[in-house]
Amino acid sequence: MFRKVIVLLLLITLTSAWWLQKPPRATKETLSQLDGEIRKLLKEDPERIGGFVRLAFHDCVGRGRCDGCIDHHNHDNKGLAVYTKVLNNLFTKFSNRITRADLYAFAAIVAANYASTSGPDAVFKMNRFKVGRRDCSRSGQEDDNAETFPGPNMQNVHELVNFFNKTFGLNLRETVALMGAHSLGRLRTKNSGFEGPWIAEVVQKNGANILDSRYYLEIVAVHWFLKVMPTNNKRHQWQREGPSMGVGNSVNASLNAQPDNILIHSDAALAFNFHLDENGAFKPGKECIMCSIVDPPPAGDLPCCDIKSAGRQLCIDYALNNTIWMHDFTDVFYKMIDNPDGKLTLPISVPVRPRPPPHRRLKHDSKNQDEKEAQDDVAFEKIKQKPV
Ligand code: HEM
Repeated sequence: MFRKVIVLLLLITLTSAWWLQKPPRATKETLSQLDGEIRKLLKEDPERIGGFVRLAFHDCVGRGRCDGCIDHHNHDNKGLAVYTKVLNNLFTKFSNRITRADLYAFAAIVAANYASTSGPDAVFKMNRFKVGRRDCSRSGQEDDNAETFPGPNMQNVHELVNFFNKTFGLNLRETVALMGAHSLGRLRTKNSGFEGPWIAEVVQKNGANILDSRYYLEIVAVHWFLKVMPTNNKRHQWQREGPSMGVGNSVNASLNAQPDNILIHSDAALAFNFHLDENGAFKPGKECIMCSIVDPPPAGDLPCCDIKSAGRQLCIDYALNNTIWMHDFTDVFYKMIDNPDGKLTLPISVPVRPRPPPHRRLKHDSKNQDEKEAQDDVAFEKIKQKPV
């Protein structure tokens, strides 16, 4: 009993010591340096754009909200380890200047900005990024945060709103707007059992990723047919192949080298209602195709799926106006990554003072210190050159 009390006291002391520690708060200069580093990573491998955005979403789900903790044992996080690895390498260089949770969130902001500047018009704004997210005590290690992620087989928009309202306090409009993040990146058989991009590579830049509202146009403006995955009969995804390829659950999804765009039920459910079993197949007698608003339904085919969805008009509005979507998306993305504990602040500017000439430096100036100051000088020069 006595030993138990000692252990408990020790645990309380350690936890409160961690909690009382003041996490580093990144300055504008640190963020400017990180912006450059993250852009280099994105240019090197554009797949990281979608990866960093997905990572921020997953980091912000769960008890601690955005907390720098990703549980790589959770199968819903499959595929994220490559992105935490690359950001953790960067983190080791900046660990005394930013928290891991801030870095994960900032990497997503840089990625969204990077991908939107190649889009048609509106640009995802970065200047609202706040700092001060706290890392969980096991940040950087695999963590057992018991997070629950949304499933891929949602049947209507209410199920989506339910999840996003509980998790981030979002309403219908915000939920529909946030899902447009799926204009980036792709699904991979080895991670989720689904395969293909939401927006095919042919319309993406550098093999991946323009952040715009085309995702909504895809949902409402073409015919979609449900296919079962040949690799996993518990996975059903929506594809473009029409009646000649068969419809309904019986027909395999095609896994061409460059498959057309695909959707999962949780995308399609923004504008349609379905009746599905636990594997994402139609319930008997409820088979349908997602009909386009533009073309008439294919003759002699299954009926069109139910379009009486509260999310449908929003999808059409966003499909027709990228600027409105980008405005809503930016707002809701910041709502997702801004922990609601009121501790976040906009970064302040702390320009580095010019270094004294070498003969006036103290003897104990270490090589590390020199390196750090040299980095700060570069950041300072960049800021000086920027127009105010
Ligand atoms: C109902 C909600 C959601 C479901 C069911 C869902 C499901 C998925 C699945 C199954 C994948 C594929 C993972 C893989 O195979 O590698 C994925 C990828 C992705 N998700 Fe979601 N997601 C949801 C919401 C979100 C939200 C809210 C965001 C961001 C704000 C997001 C951003 C992404 C991105 C960018 C990718 C592509 C990742 C890459 O290319 O590596 N998702 N999502």
